[in-house]
Amino acid sequence: MDGNSAGCPVHQGRDDRKSAKVAEASADMHTGTRVIGNFVAARDLLRSPKMRQAGASIEHVDLSKPDEISFFFLDGEIHRKRRAAVAGLFAPKTIVTRHHVVMNRAIDEITADLQKRGSAPLDEMSWQMAVDVAADIVGLTDSDSNRNLAIRVRKVLDASIRQRKGFFSKLVLNARMLIAVGRFYKHDMLPAIAARKIQPKDDVLSHLVKENYSKRGMIMECLSYGGAGMLTTREFIVMCAWHLFDNQPLRERFLSGEESDQFAILEEILRLEPVAAFLQRRVAEPFEEANGTALKEGEVVSISIRDANVDEAITGPCPFELDPDRGKRMKVIGPFMSFGDGPHRCPGAQVAMHETRIFLDRLFRLPGVRLVSAPAVSWNPNIHGYELRGAVVACDPA
Ligand code: HEM
Repeated sequence: MDGNSAGCPVHQGRDDRKSAKVAEASADMHTGTRVIGNFVAARDLLRSPKMRQAGASIEHVDLSKPDEISFFFLDGEIHRKRRAAVAGLFAPKTIVTRHHVVMNRAIDEITADLQKRGSAPLDEMSWQMAVDVAADIVGLTDSDSNRNLAIRVRKVLDASIRQRKGFFSKLVLNARMLIAVGRFYKHDMLPAIAARKIQPKDDVLSHLVKENYSKRGMIMECLSYGGAGMLTTREFIVMCAWHLFDNQPLRERFLSGEESDQFAILEEILRLEPVAAFLQRRVAEPFEEANGTALKEGEVVSISIRDANVDEAITGPCPFELDPDRGKRMKVIGPFMSFGDGPHRCPGAQVAMHETRIFLDRLFRLPGVRLVSAPAVSWNPNIHGYELRGAVVACDPA
């Protein structure tokens, strides 16, 4: 379905997606596995206890040592327990009372820096926001500076992406990766672990210290938040900014709207431009899809988020058109399938929406703010999603 015109008689196939062409051309969108693009079938599958996680290069992960891998790769009771142990960090109250403070502090620094420099790469600004917020949740708060932490985390994730085996799957490593992980461990993790041994806090690392995780287990968990929370949010913020720069009525609506309307706009952008294009699951017990198709035990299926999100049965007409009122009208939660569904549904969904809203609300109120160059869209096969690089924003000096 992706890449076709909508065939809508009113809008003559208007397609507001900026990532569609690159997604359509990317090799990993055609995985050779059965692709499920029907929204209801995808939701049923993701919610079924008969499915197992099969994404993020899981074939390189040693599942026999659950304490050394991220809970992303686990299923069943052990997954539920590991998730429940940190669920409070993502609760709505925690977002407002605790994470908003971090988000506001981060955007203060980011915008002050932009006003000083006059212009800056947008993905560097969004990366700093994503790192500051996720680092506080993980407990990486004892580094020499948050800028250096952001650089070191980026180097680890870049190096792991280059080895093409998944960013948090296997720490067997090329020299570049070893150096990057070594520096990250020494400068960011060790001081944070030491501080938590003396005085535990409410964060992921304190939990790992209390449960006596191995060094390797701790690194894997920290990096999984880097991959799952930082890489994704960086792209999402840039994508939303690009839509808002390009679309004046939408920008005006965003700036004059209530918080709930701002969220509706961001969610609709995420529906059209899901950062992760598909998820994978292995069938653990025979399963029958809603349309009667039988899935065999051991089969790996790809759930196409891009297709599910434009399934007209659930979106209503003109599925490729950016329409912030759609979610409410169709009584579907705004981002549709973009944060997944079922037991692995993104725990950081609300965190991501809040930090993106705060970032953009502040950015677009800066005097003289403008997009100097639009981003180039490319494909990152490790997150099965788009990457936006080269966007530069400018504003008037303070
Ligand atoms: C726009 C930003 C984000 C997007 C689009 C996104 C998307 C997703 C998706 C689709 C999944 C499901 C993976 C699957 O079912 O196989 C997921 C899982 C996950 N996300 Fe996010 N995410 C975002 C931000 C965040 C943030 C900010 C955090 C944390 C700070 C986070 C942490 C996680 C974790 C830990 C998982 C694994 C959950 C599990 O396996 O139980 N994500 N994310």
